[in-house]
Amino acid sequence: PDRPGATAHQAVDTTNAAAVNAGDRVVIFDTTLRDGEQCPGASMTLDEKLRVAEMLERLGVDVIEAGFAIASNGDFESVYKVAERSREAVICSLARAKHADIERAAEALKPARRKRIHTFISTSPLHRKFKLNMDEAQVLEAIADSVSFARRFTDDVEWSCEDGTRTEPEFLFKAIDVAIASGATTINVPDTVGYTVPEEYIALIRAIRNNVANIDKAILSAHCHNDLGLAVANSLAAVAAGARQVECTVNGIGERAGNAALEEIVMALRTRADIMGVRTGIDTSTITQASQLVSAVTGFPIQYNKAIVGRNAFAHESGIHQDGMLKNAQTYEIMTPESVGVNKSSLVMGKHSGRHAFKTKLKELGFELGDNAVEDAFRRFKDLADRKKTVFDDDLVALVSDEVGHE
Ligand code: KIV
Ligand code: ZN
Repeated sequence: PDRPGATAHQAVDTTNAAAVNAGDRVVIFDTTLRDGEQCPGASMTLDEKLRVAEMLERLGVDVIEAGFAIASNGDFESVYKVAERSREAVICSLARAKHADIERAAEALKPARRKRIHTFISTSPLHRKFKLNMDEAQVLEAIADSVSFARRFTDDVEWSCEDGTRTEPEFLFKAIDVAIASGATTINVPDTVGYTVPEEYIALIRAIRNNVANIDKAILSAHCHNDLGLAVANSLAAVAAGARQVECTVNGIGERAGNAALEEIVMALRTRADIMGVRTGIDTSTITQASQLVSAVTGFPIQYNKAIVGRNAFAHESGIHQDGMLKNAQTYEIMTPESVGVNKSSLVMGKHSGRHAFKTKLKELGFELGDNAVEDAFRRFKDLADRKKTVFDDDLVALVSDEVGHE
C-alpha cells in the first residue's frame, strides 16, 4: 500500500502555531548538525556540513538546526554558510539564555530566507541548583529576557526547557507561560537525559496543554534522547498527545546513546498513519541516501539491524519468510524498500533458506535445473551453508556449475 516514496513538500508556516496545531502536519526539526554533531567522534568539516544540509533540504525537513553559533568560529561559519545556501527549510541556531549568544545566532542566521533562534535554559531542580545556581524566580526572569531579546531578530523563536522531563510540572507550566508571553512560537520539552517513558511523556504533554493558558499560541515540540532506547517511542507518544514538532537526527546520532532517529519517526508516522493520524513533509525515498551520507561523513557505521536503514532491514534469510515473500511481499514487510529508496528486498542465501528461494535464486542466475539436480544442489548448498555464514551468488554459481557438469 505504500509504494510511492515521495510526498510533495509543502513549506509549513512555523510561526503560525494556531494553524499548525489545528492541522495534521508534524514539523520535522532536524538537529543532525547540532545535537547530532555533539557526540564524541561525529564532528564534521564545513564542507561535510554543507553536504548534509543540502541533503536535508532534499529530504524535505522543515527546520535545520545548523549549529550553536557562539560555540566556535567554525560553528558560526557553518551556520552562516548553511543559511546562505538555504532554500525552503527554516535555518536555526542554538543560543543559551544570554544576549551574546542570541546576537551571535542572529548574526549567523542573517543570510537565511527563513530563520529561527532556539534559546534554552535548564528548568529542573538538579540543573537549577548544580549547573545554574539560580532559583526559580531567576530562571523565569532569564526566560523572559532571552525570549523577548531573541524576538527582536526574528518572529520564529523556539524556547527549550533543558531537562524538562525532570522538572516539577507546576514550575514547568509557569516557565512555559513566561516563554509564550515573551514571544516564543515553539515550546520544546526535552527529555535531555533520555529518562522518561511513553506513558509519562504523554501525561506531561497533556498536562502542559491543560495547564498553560496560552499554549495554543505555540507549537509543542518533543526532543528525546535515547539513553533507555525509548527516544522514538517517546517522540511518537508526544505526537499522540498533541505535539506538532519532533526534533531528531539522521541515524539517531547524538549525545551519549543519541537522539530520536529521523528515519524511524518518519516511517512510523507514515506506516501507521492509520493510527497516528498525522503526516510529515519528508520525501521518504531519499531516506537511505541521507542515512548513508551521514554515516560516511561522521564515520559512524549503521548497525546491520537498524530499523529502516540497516542493511538487513529488507533482507530475509529464513526459508519460511523467503517463501512468504516470494508469494506476497506484504507477508513479511510492512513498508516497501522503494518507499525508503532501496531498490528491492533481498533474499539472503544461508542455512535457514528454503527450496523456493533457492530455485528462484538459481533462475535469477540463469540456471534451470531438473528436479533431481535441484534436490542434489539444494543438499550440497545446505552443507555449504552450515560451513559458511552467507552463501554468495558466486558460491552458488560454482556449486551449480558442478551440478550442470554432473547432469
Ligand atoms: O537535550 C537537550 O536538552 C538539548 C537542548 C539544548 C534542546 O539538546
Ligand atoms: Zn538534546
